[in-house]
Amino acid sequence: MSKMSALLFFSLVSVVLCDYRNIHIKLDAETEAFVVQANDVFHRICPSDDIDLRNKEQPHITLYLTDFVNGTDAELISAIESAINQFESFDVGLNNTVAVGQYGMWQTTIPRPLQDLSDLIVNATFHLVNPNQAVPEWIKNLPADEREKKLAMFKKYGSPNVFSSFQPHVTLCWDQSHNNVVRMLSSVPLGHPTSRIATVAIAHVGPHGTALRGEDIASFSLSQFP
Ligand SMILES: *[C@@H]1O[C@H](CO)[C@@H](O)[C@H](O)[C@H]1NC(C)=O
Ligand SMILES: *[C@@H]1O[C@H](CO)[C@@H](O)[C@H](O)[C@H]1NC(C)=O
Ligand SMILES: *[C@@H]1O[C@H](CO)[C@@H](O)[C@H](O)[C@H]1NC(C)=O
Repeated sequence: MSKMSALLFFSLVSVVLCDYRNIHIKLDAETEAFVVQANDVFHRICPSDDIDLRNKEQPHITLYLTDFVNGTDAELISAIESAINQFESFDVGLNNTVAVGQYGMWQTTIPRPLQDLSDLIVNATFHLVNPNQAVPEWIKNLPADEREKKLAMFKKYGSPNVFSSFQPHVTLCWDQSHNNVVRMLSSVPLGHPTSRIATVAIAHVGPHGTALRGEDIASFSLSQFP
């Protein structure tokens, strides 16, 4: 259910694009090229795939996606800069691909630095979040215990997908038809490569909660682990 919840959250985001920011990490060049090629194949198999990683969207792993108060980008940038100061680059494993609703995603492992990076960035920036975000309908429909947890997280952080609900992944494709998503994912065996993570960036949010390519508001390099 929680995986589905995450996806419904993304769908909601696509309706109100204006002030949302996708704070994310980028894959290394080799892994990014591989993901873009896989998306090319998905497009050929299924032309209605609405994720275009070659031209429109940036392959990424979201750390924190929410609606920040207008005009706070400068504060957001300096808060992230100090939060990630002590981080060195680290490796993330690309694990299984999953079709959840309209999304095809590549789940990642959650090495300690990945969870820490997300937690630290949320802690450093949630004071800038728009406090008046409407509670997404899907949260209201969850079983009571999960609803309370997600609601508390959403109210405090503007995202139900942080801390213990952090579910890092790379979005690979999106199609109105779940069967098409299944078909695309099963057409290309992606394996389990590892990617070095060395860049954190703030992007404008595109359709389906994606990060738009080539329009980063800021990007930061993690110091290189030898
Ligand atoms: C915030 O900015 C966006 C566009 O940048 C605008 O559409 C929206 O109305 C603004 N919201 C407020 C509360 O000023
Ligand atoms: C990676 O995939 C394996 C095999 O399906 C699974 O057991 C494991 O929990 C996954 N790890 C993560 C971090 O998703
Ligand atoms: C984030 O804040 C919470 C609550 O104050 C704290 O328990 C947690 O250790 C912090 N996480 C990080 C990575 O600083």
